[in-house]
Amino acid sequence: MRKVLKDEKLEAEFQQNGFVTIPFISAEEVELLKQKFFDTLPNSGGQITADETGVQDSRLITYDFTFIDKNPEYKKEVFDIITEYFKPHMERLLADYRPIIANYIRKKSADGEVPLHQNWAFADEMKCNTISIWCPLVDSTIENGTLQVVPGSHKRFGKYRGPMVPWELDNIKQDIIENHLVPIETKAGHCMILDDSIVHYSAINKTEGLRLAIQLICIPAEMPSVHYHMNPSKSMQEIDVLEVDVDFYMQFNPWKMPVGAKKVETLSFTKNLITADEFSARLKQPRFDETQPVKKNLFTRIKEVFA
Ligand SMILES: [Fe+2]
Repeated sequence: MRKVLKDEKLEAEFQQNGFVTIPFISAEEVELLKQKFFDTLPNSGGQITADETGVQDSRLITYDFTFIDKNPEYKKEVFDIITEYFKPHMERLLADYRPIIANYIRKKSADGEVPLHQNWAFADEMKCNTISIWCPLVDSTIENGTLQVVPGSHKRFGKYRGPMVPWELDNIKQDIIENHLVPIETKAGHCMILDDSIVHYSAINKTEGLRLAIQLICIPAEMPSVHYHMNPSKSMQEIDVLEVDVDFYMQFNPWKMPVGAKKVETLSFTKNLITADEFSARLKQPRFDETQPVKKNLFTRIKEVFA
């Protein structure tokens, strides 16, 4: 498997749990990035509203994030700011990754629940891990709605993830929230580097203060970025694999038909909703990118016979 982190110990921890938490940017950089958020905010085109998305579930958006801003120029401005500040730290820690989506995520007081989900897939996960660098700009605590994850859930569910692809954990979200999540409190300027396929969630901000964080989604530098697109009015059994770039995401409205992207493949898809028991069982089984042990054993046995 292609490496994510340069440090071997951190890499092992990441592959085991699906995330690591480490010091990332300086206190001074935290303040500057906070200031930049407010300085650039007047350029925001406002968030895409529920009506504009044209789908029912859009009411679930209870937090602000740059990705669904209506102004691509503002998204580009935020991308350039965040990538500039993060670059030296990414180079220090990561094994040659490049950024594709940058977000400021703002939870206001008494708001900001992010439903249980996995991030979309951004590259072929059979060959690599795509990651989110999640870096709070204020101390992130249980009270203000820190990130919560299911450790070890990465690459075990929802292999093909995109905005319209049915999610196999859809029926058991509440069970997972109640029984499997671990809140990860993270200091301002530290970061969580998480596999985009890890199951995660965050609760509302119960404090008076603003909870501001940055998310930078990154993929291996040499890998093409892909987007799994389903058009339910056409077929629920097919997913188009689109090869996309940073600009695709700048222009993107997550719930509308993507235009102009190159289709590289069509995958067949079967909707499957799993039970809570299956979820627990699958957490202990091999990841979808791991060689099945039976094949390894067979190979070992053949080698023994001919040794
Ligand atoms: Fe997420």
